[in-house]
Amino acid sequence: MNDDSINLHRIETASQDELRALQLKRLKWSLNHAYNNVAHYRRVFDEAGVHPDDLKTIADLAKFPFTCKSDLRKNYPFGMFAVPRKKVSRIHASSGTTGQPTVVGYTKNDVDMWSGLMARSIWAAGGRPGDIVHVAYGYGLFTGGLGAHYGAEKLGCTVIPVSGGMTERQVLLIQDFKPDIIMVTPSYLLAIADEFEKQGIDSNKCSLKIGMFGAEPWTNEMRKEIEEKFNIDAVDLYGLSEIIGPGVSGECFREKDGLYIWEDHFYPEIINPESGEVLPDGEKGELVFTSLTKEAFPIIRYRTRDLTRLFTGGNRTMRKMEKITGRTDDMMIIRGINVFPTQIEEILLRDGRLSPNFQIELTREARLDEMTVLVEARSNELSDVLRKDISKNLKHQIKNRIGVTAKINLLATGGVERSVGKARRIVDKRITETA
Ligand code: DLL
Repeated sequence: MNDDSINLHRIETASQDELRALQLKRLKWSLNHAYNNVAHYRRVFDEAGVHPDDLKTIADLAKFPFTCKSDLRKNYPFGMFAVPRKKVSRIHASSGTTGQPTVVGYTKNDVDMWSGLMARSIWAAGGRPGDIVHVAYGYGLFTGGLGAHYGAEKLGCTVIPVSGGMTERQVLLIQDFKPDIIMVTPSYLLAIADEFEKQGIDSNKCSLKIGMFGAEPWTNEMRKEIEEKFNIDAVDLYGLSEIIGPGVSGECFREKDGLYIWEDHFYPEIINPESGEVLPDGEKGELVFTSLTKEAFPIIRYRTRDLTRLFTGGNRTMRKMEKITGRTDDMMIIRGINVFPTQIEEILLRDGRLSPNFQIELTREARLDEMTVLVEARSNELSDVLRKDISKNLKHQIKNRIGVTAKINLLATGGVERSVGKARRIVDKRITETA
């Protein structure tokens, strides 16, 4: 325990028994709330032959049906709400890759709970009242900006609501307002780092002390890269709109080995994505969440498609989740081998000559899938011999560690598309080519 522990929310260090008892009580409430107020839940529970009263222990949760993104789509826009529309004080939506957004709603109490958990996450990241927080997550229907904003305000920080984009101005505001904390996607921070370099300013000497990064997968190799570039503690922040937004789980800056799930509000399970079977802690699979306290948009056994494992340890009672490897729908199957963009990130960042900006292009040649890694060299002054050596080495490492033969396209600085929010890591050209 450190001196700061007295300022943790009490439940963070309660006994296991106390936490499980609270979860059971809240689970009963949440299942009843969903069943009594959302037609969808009543129908699917009835069809599955289960009733909220069947939950006697937490393990009984496994009897209840899963909720998937398609269920939310079918009930677009407000069909999954459990309170009259007039009690809904906020709407967010995630754009998704295919047309119709996923809509979520919050009552005033829900927004308060969310802000409290974001404040808890900022505290865990090392943020303290009075800190200046630069929020570069997008504001709007995306939950990143407003979620981070309300949490920082709740903790008693000074918030600068910059949002994403206008990268030159991001640098100017960091230089002039001297924030302690930045909240941004890791890929957009890299674009901000490029801008620092372009302006001839040393990012390592800026005022920032802490970065809270999330909304997309990033590796421990990327953590090292970012920490060195900005001389900060880089901690992970996870969440998804369907559960609440950012602040479902967050890392402690003293531990940096996984994210504490705020289990007093969200009950996590790990399942085998193929069979749906619940896996024990420690095993890797798909993360599933059930909300325990949400009023407007209770969500029961929601399949996140995110892959991780749960474990305990550290200075809080709640379970941690390991850094997300990727989403089941981001998994590329290249000639029978499963590949995630994070595996490529991990490998290429081990070569100090390569920049962290990369993209993976999938094409189909002679009915066989091809993977090309587009990546920038850190220097534009390399000889042809050196360039060949870098590409050969990367190709070799990918083959060795993942088992896939990749083509390498080594580009000059700026050659890989930049994002102001979530990076687009995979460009799939297979569909159009075969059409
Ligand atoms: O991305 C919420 C958020 C905003 C989280 C800001 C953290 C910081 P959605 O747009 O609904 O919500 O996307 C949720 O993003 O299911 C994951 O696949 C991915 N994701 C979010 N955080 C992380 C993370 C926000 N720390 C989807 N690591 C999730 C890996 C993440 N993936």
